[in-house]
Amino acid sequence: MKSQKKVFVVTGGEGFIGSNLIKKINSTKKNIKIISIDNNLSKQLNKIKSANNNKIIYLRGHTKNIRNLLKNEPKIECIFHFGEFSRIVKSFENSKKCFSSNHTGTLEVIKFCSDKNIKIIYSASSSKFGNKGRDEHLSPYSWTKSKNIELIKNYSDWFHLNYEIVYFYNVYGPGHIRKGEMAAVIGIFENCYLKNIPITVIKPGTQKRDFTHVDDIINGVMLAFKKNLNGEFMLGTNKNTSVENIAKLFKHPIIYIDEKPGERLASTIPDLDSQKRLGYKPKIKIQDYIKSFLDENKR
Ligand SMILES: NC(=O)c1ccc[n+]([C@@H]2O[C@H](COP(=O)([O-])OP(=O)(O)OC[C@H]3O[C@@H](n4cnc5c(N)ncnc54)[C@H](O)[C@@H]3O)[C@@H](O)[C@H]2O)c1
Repeated sequence: MKSQKKVFVVTGGEGFIGSNLIKKINSTKKNIKIISIDNNLSKQLNKIKSANNNKIIYLRGHTKNIRNLLKNEPKIECIFHFGEFSRIVKSFENSKKCFSSNHTGTLEVIKFCSDKNIKIIYSASSSKFGNKGRDEHLSPYSWTKSKNIELIKNYSDWFHLNYEIVYFYNVYGPGHIRKGEMAAVIGIFENCYLKNIPITVIKPGTQKRDFTHVDDIINGVMLAFKKNLNGEFMLGTNKNTSVENIAKLFKHPIIYIDEKPGERLASTIPDLDSQKRLGYKPKIKIQDYIKSFLDENKR
């Protein structure tokens, strides 16, 4: 009898972090099937070519329909749930989309994993920790992301859901969004530099963030998957840098723009214990990344 390929599902598989994860799984595992579910909310098409006798299937669909989208898959190893509305500030003007993905869609993903006994790995946001936990109320994004963590843990207590929660801090690297409303800070800085227009820094500029390279994030996610500890892991670099100091590394003119609702003044330092349990050691420094970007894009 022909043996079935193991199946891994990545929601948001065409997005920044999801596509980097598919790339990693595709290059490290053989003879498997990877299914991406993405509704193109972030307007990216980061598709990876299959290798190692793997099959990668890109489904266009909303996570609220996950049951139907995966109806022909009897056995799934793991669902990496990265397909959510992903930006803090933009979640005010797009609150409907944010609730549709992060509330309606995610509830269906959690219920599906619980019913089918599938492990879920959830892409949580460190934005919930700031200001002694009060920052979880700062925006529709932070609130919905934070409630999903409670829901996953409750499903684990109520129905034995097998989970790992991986917290991300400002993630940057290949595939990040540079233009449009879903662009993130380092992508925006790069875009300004490439277009030779001043880099826009949101006031006051002294707000600090833990900038983490996507390769470190993906290594942390894969460690969480392998170790199977049913826990929560904070995948930051443990170093906070102000946004204006990062902008200055581009050695390019800067202008300051007004603060927007949802902005946080500070990021939090990750719980180092959780990193020890995982054996997670972030390797890439933002300063080195920007230096290579400038070397590659010499004027
Ligand atoms: N990038 C960061 O700095 C960061 C920090 C903390 C947490 N996260 C979380 O990590 C995850 C991935 O973030 P990213 O930076 O890759 O964002 P992204 O916007 O690049 O990717 C998200 C992908 O999910 C898709 N998507 C959104 N809603 C969907 C839905 N209902 N059904 C199917 N697909 C849907 C989008 O089209 C997009 O391709 C998100 O859950 C985000 O909240 C990211």
